[in-house]
Amino acid sequence: SPFKRDAVASGTYSTGPADVASIDWDNLGFGYIATDYMYMMKCDQGGTFSNGELQRFANIELSPSAGVLNYGQGLFEGLKAYMKEVPPPGKGSLYIRPLLMGSGAVLGLAPAPEYTFLIYVSPVGNYFKEGLAPINLIVEHELHRATPGGTGGVKTIGNYAAVLKAQSAAKAKGYSDVLYLDCVNKKYLEEVSSCNIFVVKGNTISTPAIKGTILPGITRKSIIDVARSQEFQVEERLVAVDELLDADEVFCTGTAVVVSPVGSITYKGETKKYGGGGVGAVSQKLYTVLTSLQMGLTEDKMNWTLE
Ligand code: COI
Repeated sequence: SPFKRDAVASGTYSTGPADVASIDWDNLGFGYIATDYMYMMKCDQGGTFSNGELQRFANIELSPSAGVLNYGQGLFEGLKAYMKEVPPPGKGSLYIRPLLMGSGAVLGLAPAPEYTFLIYVSPVGNYFKEGLAPINLIVEHELHRATPGGTGGVKTIGNYAAVLKAQSAAKAKGYSDVLYLDCVNKKYLEEVSSCNIFVVKGNTISTPAIKGTILPGITRKSIIDVARSQEFQVEERLVAVDELLDADEVFCTGTAVVVSPVGSITYKGETKKYGGGGVGAVSQKLYTVLTSLQMGLTEDKMNWTLE
């Protein structure tokens, strides 16, 4: 059961009975709302997991010398659970965050001798403050999110720290987020700080191919499959930044963002607008098909649902 943010801030983690009904699903953004429990398990260097248990949600104790604190040894995932009636369809989900971190003490640079795996959850609504309205992106052409041979293609915590400088600067200028370019040619699209990107031209939907610097998000894959099932042609390839000028629509995908339509993209001072202030038809269609499947509102012709 979620409880008040001020209880979290003051470090008191007691809560009353389950109180999902108190959540204001219409105004829920993507912020952490504490819940009662978390799951925790240890893992040794050989990859053997042990002592897994469900515990009350609480702060965790770490050595100041923990691998995650000193050398960024951390991975995470994001999943969403939807209920058919609570939360009401279309109004939020339960975000599930698994986290694996080097919790053993190190000083010399080396893999930590012990890892901690934990899962916590939070009720969430829309990721962007725009809600379901189109977001405004700026193309970053000096700072990069990932490099060939680096960690961009896996969900390391460091990938997300690396974008904060560019993202904060963009938000200070009123943009929703940043769209990154490849760091070699500085002309091909990579992804947005927190999500993948798709460009629509006629019946063709293009997205940057997975090549080590782009996160192979499950929502990216789901949207590719859904789009193909809806008779769109989907291309995974190098997508040049210039193609944005000519595109009919652009949208982002991710577990957190679901399908977020893009209303404008600014590149080197020029702004290209999409959808005339509204949500493009392709983005809307793919969003509706995907979320209807996720919430069990339509027959699952994709065969994704396990009973
Ligand atoms: C997700 O989409 O679940 C992510 O992990 C991105 C994160 C920045 C919220």
